[in-house]
Amino acid sequence: MKKIAFFDAKTYDIMTFNSVNKDYEIHYFEDKLNINTVILAKGMDAVCAFVNDDVSKKVLDKLDEYGIHLVALRCAGFNNVDIEAAYKKVHIVRVPAYSPYAVAEHAMALLLSLNRKIHKAYLRTREFNFNIQGLTGFDLFGKTVGVIGTGKIGVAFINICKGFGMNVLAYDPFPRNDLDVSYVSVDELVKESDIISLHCPLTNETKHIINKDTISKMKQGVIIVNTSRGALVDSQALLQGLKDKKILGACLDVYEEEANLFFEDNSSEIIQDDILSLLISLPNVIMTSHQGYLTKEALENIAETTLNNITLYFKDEYLENEICYRCKKNPSGCMAKRNKNCF
Ligand code: NAI
Repeated sequence: MKKIAFFDAKTYDIMTFNSVNKDYEIHYFEDKLNINTVILAKGMDAVCAFVNDDVSKKVLDKLDEYGIHLVALRCAGFNNVDIEAAYKKVHIVRVPAYSPYAVAEHAMALLLSLNRKIHKAYLRTREFNFNIQGLTGFDLFGKTVGVIGTGKIGVAFINICKGFGMNVLAYDPFPRNDLDVSYVSVDELVKESDIISLHCPLTNETKHIINKDTISKMKQGVIIVNTSRGALVDSQALLQGLKDKKILGACLDVYEEEANLFFEDNSSEIIQDDILSLLISLPNVIMTSHQGYLTKEALENIAETTLNNITLYFKDEYLENEICYRCKKNPSGCMAKRNKNCF
C-alpha cells in the first residue's frame, strides 16, 4: 500500500479522510510541513498538505531527494507553494472546488448574526438576561447588497440574497451573462450598497480592494462581509471606518495576518497584532477563523478529490487538478489544455 504523509492533521481531517480512504496507508502528523518537519515524509510515497504548510523550494528539494514527486493540496489556494521550484520535480495537485454553498451560507450566517445581534443575545440569555435593549437590527428585505466576484461562491451568495428579497449589484471583470444581476463598476457598487460582500480571489488587482478611499465612498452605515481572503481588506482602514462609525459592522472569516494565528488555540497567548485585538474587541465585528468551508459535505468533497488526485498520479493518468506552472508562464504551451500532465 502506498504511504501518504499527511501534514497539519486536525481531528476533523482524520475522521473524514479515514471514512473515504480505502487504498492508502495515511500517516497523520499534527506538525505543519516545513524544512524542519519534512523529514517525517521520508519513506513515504506522497505528501498531503494544507493552506499553512510551507511548500517552498527547500522543502520541495528535500521531497525530491526522498523520491517523493507528489504534493496533494487539500485546498484550492496554492500561494504557499513555490510552483516554479516544483516544476519538473514534484507534481502539485489541488481541490479547485469543494462546496461554494458552505462559504456562501457562512457569509449569510455572519451577516444575519451581526445584524440581528445574535452574538450578544446568545450571551445574554445564557445568563438569563432577557433584556432586548440594544439588539435592534434592520430588515435585509429591500436592501442592496454589492457582491464583488461572481464565481461559484459569489453566485451561491447572490441566490441566497435574492431569497431574502434583496437587490443585488455585482462587480466582476468577467461578468456572466446567465445571471440576473446589475453589473456595475467597483465605485458605483461601493456607493450604492448597504452591504458589501467579497467573493473574489486575492490577486495584485484585488489586494486592499476595500481601502481608505473605497470606504470613504461607501454609504454611511454599510456592513462589510469578507469570507474570501484577508488581504482584500486594508485592516487598518477597516478599523478606522468602524471607529468613525462610517461602517456599521464587519463580518470576517479571514484576516490579513491570519497565517500564524488562525486554526490554532491562542487563548493563552498575548496577541501581538493590535489591529486584530481591536477588531475582535468591537461589538459590531464578528470574526470566525477561516471556517467558511467547514461543512460535512465540503470536507467529504475535499477528501474524495484529494484521494482521487493521488490515485490518478499513481496510475500515471492525466492530473486534471494539477497546478500548471507552464500555463502561467506561457498559456499557449499549457499541457493541461491538451489533457497532458504539466511535465
Ligand atoms: P471562482 O474562481 O469560482 O470565482 C472567483 C470570481 O472572482 C471569478 O468570477 C473571477 O472572475 C472574479 N474575479 C477575478 N478577479 C477579480 C477582480 N479583480 N475583481 C472582482 N472579481 C474578480 O472562486 P470561488 O470558488 O467562488 O471562490 C472565491 C474565493 O473564496 C476564493 O478565491 C477564496 O479566496 C475564497 N474561499 C474562502 C473559503 C473560506 O473557507 N472562507 C473557502 C474557499 C474559497
